[in-house]
Amino acid sequence: KIVVLDFGSQYNQLITRRIREFGVYSELHPHTVTAADIQEMNATGIIFSGGPNSVYGENAFSVDPDILSLGIPVLGICYGMQLMAHHLGGTVEKAHRREYGKADITVVKESELFKDLPVEQTVWMSHGDHVTKAPEGFDIIATSPSCDIAAIANKERGLFAVQFHPEVRHSVYGNEIIRQFVFDICGAKGDWSMESFIELEIEKIREQVGNKQVLCALSGGVDSSVVAVLIHKAIGDQLTCMFVDHGLLRKGEAESVMKTFADGFHMKVIKIDARDRFMAKLSGISDPEAKRKIIGNEFIYVFDEEAAKLTDMDFLAQGTLYTDIIESGTATAQTIKSHHNVGGLPEDMKFTLIEPLNTLFKDEVRALGTELGMPDEIVWRQPFPGPGLGIRVLGEVTEEKLEIVRESDAILRDEIKKAGLERDIWQYFTVLPDIRSVGVMGDARTYDYAIGIRAVTSIDGMTSDWARIPWDILEKISVRLVNEVPHINRVLYDVTSKPPSTIEWE
Ligand code: XMP
Repeated sequence: KIVVLDFGSQYNQLITRRIREFGVYSELHPHTVTAADIQEMNATGIIFSGGPNSVYGENAFSVDPDILSLGIPVLGICYGMQLMAHHLGGTVEKAHRREYGKADITVVKESELFKDLPVEQTVWMSHGDHVTKAPEGFDIIATSPSCDIAAIANKERGLFAVQFHPEVRHSVYGNEIIRQFVFDICGAKGDWSMESFIELEIEKIREQVGNKQVLCALSGGVDSSVVAVLIHKAIGDQLTCMFVDHGLLRKGEAESVMKTFADGFHMKVIKIDARDRFMAKLSGISDPEAKRKIIGNEFIYVFDEEAAKLTDMDFLAQGTLYTDIIESGTATAQTIKSHHNVGGLPEDMKFTLIEPLNTLFKDEVRALGTELGMPDEIVWRQPFPGPGLGIRVLGEVTEEKLEIVRESDAILRDEIKKAGLERDIWQYFTVLPDIRSVGVMGDARTYDYAIGIRAVTSIDGMTSDWARIPWDILEKISVRLVNEVPHINRVLYDVTSKPPSTIEWE
């Protein structure tokens, strides 16, 4: 297992991801873990991530220096390199100029880190400070025109560090550098797979649950469906699924969930109609974070109440993903949006949570679903946020606006399916901004809503690009939206990537 310590870089989860793609299990942990914690985790390698601080800054994120003496190889990246140098007697100084973007480095000394890689290579730099004197016992193994000490190594101690970001794709040989570290230096085997993950998780679930009962929040989305099937596989009828219809679902979704899980998978599924309750709570609320919190809280309250009617429910299973946890803010990363499954949890909740997917990325969850024998239409269902259409009606949520989003979303989905683009586009939906504009229909002036189409390609939802849907398909969609959905007289197409945008509009 490779442990990545989080010093707050936006890229830190990418490091974990690259390593898992090699078939090596990797986890991200806060920088506050101690050397003893790391030993207990049975780590075979440690990576210090980058971060926004300066090692000399007030409130700089520090690290337990004993970690550097455990005899476990360490790779420092950017801030991680500066931290390593700082703790081992090197010098870190402010660079004359912040360096941000592509840079060319030259490998000046042979090392395991750059083994068999070109001497000249392009990397991605993003730093304000840099190391100006390497600690004793370290060799400078790469330099760049603006950064004399671009990489250092102390082979005897297994300590390596790079000023650039190998985890970012712009670093042309970045993947190979991480691979060298993980396999050659840490001696990883590359035998981590979904199959082994399932076996391990099933064992864990059985052990944790014993003969108690688990309630699962089934939403019909990929995550909660996979969780339900995984837990069902582990404990069978000790699992009861509860499906809350909060009225913020897509067209036809409530029916399809019941059909798939109750009829198809023979699971115990209870359906709760809470539509009025959610609408009442959302009335008059237009702030996105407030809406998210309300929906998240209400969800759990409904659960709590309904669960109280069932006897002996001890655990609550949720399909929280790794990305949900990271985006809700780990100890170090900034909160971008409070995610339904995490930020919305009320503090007085009486269940113990089971979140077996909380170390996985989205595409890994799909692979898990397939491995569990789930059909493609569930496994490849596009992601749908917990707060549902509630965050796709921008501003205050009303029945009328929900209906517009629901109908337009159904048309969009239908056309994307007909065009055979379902697998190429990671997520596609409509959003209703609170904008009205003037149009003309049948010789009459209209003053009605504009609807937005959001379609993105992505691997894990952490970053995304806007999907290049062919013009003629966009045209068909646009014509249908305006003709078939009342109160729409204009169609917009969102052409921003994430970052700087997010996928959802709220
Ligand atoms: P953003 O908008 O943050 O979304 O770029 C990234 C991915 O997460 C989904 N999403 C959520 N999923 N609960 C969820 O389970 C939520 O509260 C939530 N908010 C956004 C979003 O649809 C996209 O796939």
